[in-house]
Order: sequence, then C-alpha cells, then structure tokens
Amino acid sequence: MRDSKHWSNRSKTALVTGASSGLGREICKLLQQQGMRLIATGRKNLPEAHAAVTADLRHERHKILELIEKEVPDVVINCAGAGAYGPALDHPLDLLDINANAPIEITLVAARTLLRAKKTGVILNVSSAAGLIPMPYLALYSAAKAALTSFSRSFDAEMRPFDIRILVSLPGQINTDFAFQASKGKYRQEGGMKKEWVAKRIMRQIAHQIPYEVIDGNTKFQIFLAKLLPSLANRLIMKGLRKRF
Ligand SMILES: NC(=O)c1ccc[n+]([C@@H]2O[C@H](COP(=O)([O-])OP(=O)(O)OC[C@H]3O[C@@H](n4cnc5c(N)ncnc54)[C@H](OP(=O)(O)O)[C@@H]3O)[C@@H](O)[C@H]2O)c1
Repeated sequence: MRDSKHWSNRSKTALVTGASSGLGREICKLLQQQGMRLIATGRKNLPEAHAAVTADLRHERHKILELIEKEVPDVVINCAGAGAYGPALDHPLDLLDINANAPIEITLVAARTLLRAKKTGVILNVSSAAGLIPMPYLALYSAAKAALTSFSRSFDAEMRPFDIRILVSLPGQINTDFAFQASKGKYRQEGGMKKEWVAKRIMRQIAHQIPYEVIDGNTKFQIFLAKLLPSLANRLIMKGLRKRF
C-alpha cells in the first residue's frame, strides 16, 4: 500500500543538487532542521550530510542516478544551475545539460524509483523566471529553464494520480554567487531576494505541494510587463545584461 499523502518530514530522505552554495545550501539547512536525512550533491564544498556525492552534472550524473536508485529519496530538489552572460554564439551547449537535461533525467529516474517502490514523493525543480522571458545574452540558460519548466508542469500531470508530485519554482534575481559565476567574476549581484527567504518559500511550496510558483511579486510584474511590451523588455534586458560581460 502507498504511504499517506500527508507525511511528516522526520526520518524521510531528501536529495539536493547544487548543495554546495547559494540557494541549495540554504535548502539543505532547512531540510536538516526538519529532521530529514540529507543527500547532498555538487562539485565541491558539500555540507555535512547522511550521504554526499561529488558529481559534475555535465558528465558524471550517473553517480547521482545510482544513488537515487539505491536510497529512493522521498524528496528530490534539483537546485544546481549555471548561467553564462554574453552572445549565445560564444557559449557551449553543455549549459543545456546542467540546466535542463540533468534535472529532467534526475526527475525521471527519481519518479520511476518511487513508483517502483510504491512510495509517494515530491520532486521540486528550481527553474527561473528567465525561462518565461526571452533573455538576449542569456539565451541558452533561458532556453534550458523554459524546457525545465514546461517538462515539470507536463510530467506533474502524469504522476499526480500516483501521489508523486513534480513541482517547479521560478525565482527572480537572488543574492547569490550566480551572477559572479555567469560573468566569469566580472559582476556581483547587488540587491535581489535573500537566498534564505527564497529557500523558505521553496520549503513552503513543497509542504503545500504547489505545482508552479513564481517567486516573488516583483518578478511576476516583470513577466507581465515583458508579455505586454516585449520590444521594450528586450531592450532593457540587453542593456542590463551587456554590463555583465
Ligand atoms: N541567483 C539567481 O538570480 C537565480 C535566479 C533564478 C533562478 N536561479 C536558480 O537557482 C538555482 C541555484 O542557483 P544559486 O543562485 O544558488 O547560484 P550558485 O550559488 O552559483 O549555486 C549554483 C549551484 O549549482 C551547482 N553547479 C553549477 N554547475 C554545476 C555542474 N556542472 N555540475 C554540478 N553542479 C553544478 C554549484 O555547485 P558547484 O559549485 O559545487 O559546482 C552550486 O551548488 C539555479 O538552478 C539557478 O539557475 C538563480
């Protein structure tokens, strides 16, 4: 028989990708405060956890997939992500691997193992508002996040009858090292949402099993404006992002 839908977090297992820094690191702290067994993944500096696996999502994700099949986590949070500012002509296609192929494959394997084990569970994909707005000079990242959002929403409808939920979260700008990495050290994000606050919103989304959430009100307004006035939005985005590379 399947678990009850309203499970307590204590003694459950959660796997987090991108656990080494930023938003993922904050999510790990909250999961551990709730008494969950943590499996942390990233390329370096992983937090203390029940298990940790060092893996580059471009060519080592088999390590994570094997661990998922062994541990059958109740919660999986695909938080790893990386951007690159600048002309798409200059960027490698492996940005699609980190931001779309890897989280999609992890989602599929996690859902399959839950189904096989007759367990309920939640998989939350950290996407981005950038996937809803055409983003010149962040084109591959934006395309990958669009794919991840679309996949998550479609697959959730398929898995819902089995009480396996695929949630997707779309934050706006967060004050992490993301912009610093994406600009190869040229630009540091100033302002933006606090990662601690966004992490709490994501935990709330999981607790309430909210399928799709744009974080926050300001980001919702930007998406609305970009739909209403796409040419103006493109010009503003190009002006803003050009400064970062
Ligand atoms: N910051 C923002 O403004 C913003 C806005 C919307 C959405 N997001 C999304 O939020 C998520 C978290 O990003 P963040 O803001 O917390 O940035 P961050 O501090 O740069 O964290 C990114 C994480 O992704 C991991 N990662 C990057 N490339 C990887 C690779 N090739 N293989 C394995 N892991 C890799 C990093 O781990 P290692 O360093 O150990 O490799 C790190 O833990 C991402 O999915 C991002 O797209 C961010």
